[in-house]
This record gives sequence, C-alpha cells and structure tokens, in this order.
Amino acid sequence: MKQKLRFLIGRVKAGRLGEMRRQTIWIYQYAKHYWLTMIFYTLLGMVGTVVALLTSLISRDLVDIITGRQTGEIVKTFSLMIGLNVGTTFLNQLSDYASAYLSMKVDSEIKADIFSKILVTDWESLTTYHTGDLLTRWGSDASAISNGVLNFLPNAIIYLFRFISAFAMVIYYDPSFAIFAFLGMPVSLLLSKTLLNRMVNNNKRSAAMGAKMSGFNQEAFSNIQTIKAFDLIHLYVARLKQLQKEYIAMKLDFQKMSMGTSLLLSTVALLVSYASYGWGIYRVFTNAISYGTMTMFLSLSGTLTGTLHNLTSLVPTIIGLTTSAGRLMDIIEMPREDYSQNEEVDAFFEAHKEHGISLYVDNLEYAYNNGTQVFAGASLEAHPHEVVALVGPSGEGKTTMIRLILSLMRSQNGAATLGGNRGHHSLTFSDCKSADDTDSDSKSTDAIPLTPSTRKLFSYVPQGNTMFSGTIAENMRNVKPNATEEEIIDVLKLSCAWDFVRKLPDGIDSKIKERGGGFSEGQAQRLSIARALLRHSPILLLDEATSALDVATERKVLRNIMADDYPRTCIVTTHRPSVLNICERVYAIRDKKCVILNEEEIEEMVKGF
Ligand SMILES: Nc1ncnc2c1ncn2[C@@H]1O[C@H](COP(=O)(O)OP(=O)(O)OP(=O)(O)O)[C@@H](O)[C@H]1O
Ligand SMILES: [Mg+2]
Repeated sequence: MKQKLRFLIGRVKAGRLGEMRRQTIWIYQYAKHYWLTMIFYTLLGMVGTVVALLTSLISRDLVDIITGRQTGEIVKTFSLMIGLNVGTTFLNQLSDYASAYLSMKVDSEIKADIFSKILVTDWESLTTYHTGDLLTRWGSDASAISNGVLNFLPNAIIYLFRFISAFAMVIYYDPSFAIFAFLGMPVSLLLSKTLLNRMVNNNKRSAAMGAKMSGFNQEAFSNIQTIKAFDLIHLYVARLKQLQKEYIAMKLDFQKMSMGTSLLLSTVALLVSYASYGWGIYRVFTNAISYGTMTMFLSLSGTLTGTLHNLTSLVPTIIGLTTSAGRLMDIIEMPREDYSQNEEVDAFFEAHKEHGISLYVDNLEYAYNNGTQVFAGASLEAHPHEVVALVGPSGEGKTTMIRLILSLMRSQNGAATLGGNRGHHSLTFSDCKSADDTDSDSKSTDAIPLTPSTRKLFSYVPQGNTMFSGTIAENMRNVKPNATEEEIIDVLKLSCAWDFVRKLPDGIDSKIKERGGGFSEGQAQRLSIARALLRHSPILLLDEATSALDVATERKVLRNIMADDYPRTCIVTTHRPSVLNICERVYAIRDKKCVILNEEEIEEMVKGF
C-alpha cells in the first residue's frame, strides 16, 4: 500500500502535475515582487464581495419596506443602497487598476528577463528555433502569463471567499435554499474536466499557429524586394489567405466549443434560477419568508452558481498559463554561454594591449548539430600587424571558422587560444604545427582559451548588411558611445567610406534606413568596417566584408588597415584572390584543414580567377 502510494506520488511529480508545479513556481518568481499589489487586489475583491452581500441585504429590506412587511425609513435605506452601489463602482475601478498595474509590471519583467536571457543563450541551440516562433513565445506567451497571473492565488481566494460568504448567508436566512447552491455543481465539474483536455490541445494548436503566422509575416515583410523581383506577389497573397483561413477555422473551432459550454452553463443557470424562483414563491406563499428575502435568495443563487463556475474554470485557465510558462522555459533553459572568464580576459587585455594579441587555432574539429563535419584538425595563427586570409570555395567553412573563433559555437576537439604578441615563426603548414607543439609550454603561461568572454576583444564584420537604422554617427557610437566627430571621420577614412560620406548633405548625420537602406551594398560594407575599426579591438574579423567593393577599393581598405599604427590582428575571409598577395599569410580550407599556401599557389589562384 505504502509502495503504491509512493509510486503514485512519484508519477504525479514526474507527470503533468509535477511539471505544472515547476511552471507555477517559475511564474511566481516574477509575480512575487508585487505581492503587496496582489494582497491589495485580493483585499479589494473581498471587500467588494462584502459590499455586494450587504447590497442584497439592503435590497431585501427595501422590498420588505415597500411591500409593507417591514417598517423602516425608506429614504434612509434607499440612500444606503445607492451609497453601496456607488462604492461597488469605485471598488471595481480600483481593482481593475490594480490588476492592470500588476499585469503590465509582470509583463515587462518577464519580457525584459527573457530578452536578456535569449541574448546569452548558446547561439547554435537558439538557431534551432525559427525567429517567428521565438517572437511568439516572447510576445504572446509572456502576455498570456502576465494577464492571467492573478488567476492563481488572488482570484482563487476571492472566489472562494465569495462562495463561502454567500453560502453562509443563505444558510443563515433559510437553510432550505442551500441546496440550490450545489445544483449546478455536477455540470460545472463535468465541464471543467472536458474543458481541461480541450484547453491543453487548443493551447498547443494556437501556439503552433501563432508561430507560423508570425514567421510568415516577419519573412514576408523583410523580403518585399525579393517577392517583387521574383513576381511572387500572388503567391504570397495566396499564402497569407491560406494562413488566415486556417487561423479562422481554428478560432471558429474554439468559438464553437465555448458556445457549447456557454449554452450549457446558461441553461443550467436558468434552471437553477427557475427552481429557486419556484421554491421562493412556495416559501413566500407558506409565509416562511418575506418577498424581500426571496429576492435576496434569487440574487444569491446567481452569485453562487456564477462563483462556482468561476472557481471550476480557474483550472483550465491555470493549465493555459502553465503551458505558456513551459514554452518560455523551453527557450530560457537552453544552454547558456559561459561569461565566467570576463575578469581574466580584462587582465589579459591590460597586459597585452600595447603590443597586440595573437590568435592560435590548434587542431580544431567541428561538426554542426546536423552532423555536417566542417573541420578535422584545422590549425591557423594570426598576429598583430598582420592581415591573414582564409580562402576556400563557398560552403567550405570560412564563416564556420569565424563563428568558432568568436565562440558562437564550441568545437568538439582541439584548442583555440589567444596569446601575447610573439610574431609568426613558421611559414608552412607542417612547420606551423611543429612550432605550435614546441611552443605549448610557453603559451600556457601567457595564453587564455577562446570563450564567450574573449568576444569583447574582437571586432567582427559579418557577411551581409548589418547596419542599424539611425544616423551614421549613431551607428558608430553604438560601439563607442563617446567617439568624437574626428574619431568617426578617421575610421571612415580608413575604410574608404569618407569618400562618399563627406559628399552627403548631412555628412555623418545622414540617416541609414533599416538594414543599411539608402546606401549601396559596398557603401554599407565600408560603413560596417569603419564601425568595427572604431571599436579598437585587438582582433578584427572580416567575413567577406569587402566582397561588394571594387578590387582597387578593397585593396586600399586592407592596406589602410595594415598601415594603421594600432597593433591589430586581422583575419579576412574571401572568395576573391585579388587581395591575397597583400596578405601576410593565406590559408586555404582543404580536406577540413587549413593549409598555408605558398607564393606559387597564390599566383596560380590569382591567375585562375
Ligand atoms: N547552422 C548550420 N547548421 C548546419 N550546417 C551548417 C550551418 N551553417 C553552415 N553549415 C554548413 O557548414 C558548411 C560550411 O559553411 P560556411 O558558412 O562556413 O561556409 P563558407 O565557407 O563561409 O561559405 P560562403 O563562402 O558561401 O560564405 C556548409 O556545408 C554548410 O552547409
Ligand atoms: Mg561564409
């Protein structure tokens, strides 16, 4: 027996209920800062209940005075009732205000917290979700929780209090009426069980549909140019209509369900009220109660049926909330990036900022989650005042190497470290490997591994347009808030962007539209490089960052970067061999390794281009 009980408790803990408990605790970690407001709201609800019950008492007196059963001051009683009604109106407003305040506060708290957590979530895990799905979870699920957070404790307490006090009043004045309080109960309970199952199902459907719609909207609006260019207007309009059709069908399904329940509940409520009406009339005729008491019972029976329904329907509501919490927990419980090395990295930077920082990638192995093996034993190194190129056909792994260097992803094997500036000793791949091996002791005293914390030592210009909307100066100051106009102009000159910026009527205060709009691809690339240079990081990573420039400008930008006094280590990836002969070293990705090309090989590449 004991064992059976333990087994049952174990199942509950592991099952849906255990999960719900975890989700509830999670929700309350946000709501708990507002416990005072919650207590205030609960008290308001309870006072509201007392006032409503008093109102029914007063209205009983009023009816009895009018029908002559009771003698009393009609004006005084009437004024009291008006006073209570006005009081109820104020109480309702106050309670609405408290509930709006609480839901907005919890909403912002959840959203801000999840936003900052998403930003430090492991990048590769995060990419398994469509951004539309992430947005729906972050937006709709968080709102569902904040709107319903009062439904857990405060509303449950208020409803329970209302039910018990109304019931007590019925018992006090005429216990025979008490039976009507429970007449609706079986139906309410039965309904809540069906509702519960449906609710879980509906929540899942609704969330999946929301993610689909938001994904579609987001992709369509950010690709209007492509939609037009490929003449996909009809296709996209048709797709939207199809999605809307699915959405409407789903919503109508939900509506039918709620119609069914409402109809059933209203019928039950009507039956209960007719029954109590009949019983009331009988009691009045037999002189057991007064007219006034009968009207009071009628209103109380309405309160009891309504409150009972409210109480039972809290269950599906809570299920909905915990489901939303579960969907949010899915994202924030993904692996986090480890920023624990921040202090070591700061100290390391202080020690080496004068002479610059070298990068060592040693025997790296990496495969994406889907099994695509990109590197097996890849090694490379780069030192201050060098521009090192990483070349290879499309899809060979250039961007992957940059992501690994930035610790956006973790390699499965091998080491990637930063060290002080010791210059380059080897020119061939095999030399490079042996040099690394013999150096390993000296490196360990003066080297730190690449982690998310070391990311602050890098500037990165990715493929594609990455300018934000705002002015050129604002974009620059994003990475260095106190940059002077001169500093901005200096980096614009280095990246050959000053040539066109100085001709703009507003100069560095010219507006950039969404995703670099208003500028050509090559211009936006030069602005991105300027922004990266302004950050003054010891290591600069350019991923095809000059691909849209003409060869002459591309070479000029790289030469400017090399000529700069700052001890910068620069790695560029490129398809184009035209800049290779100005780089210190060229690595080609071959057989999942990085091979140093000699001069003939580089010449051959340049010729073959
Ligand atoms: N997120 C990802 N998940 C799984 N595989 C990926 C992912 N990103 C890239 N890959 C695969 O890894 C390989 C290397 O891709 P990568 O983007 O590094 O190539 P690349 O050399 O930068 O190409 P390009 O010159 O076209 O930019 C490709 O085969 C690609 O299909
Ligand atoms: Mg790439």
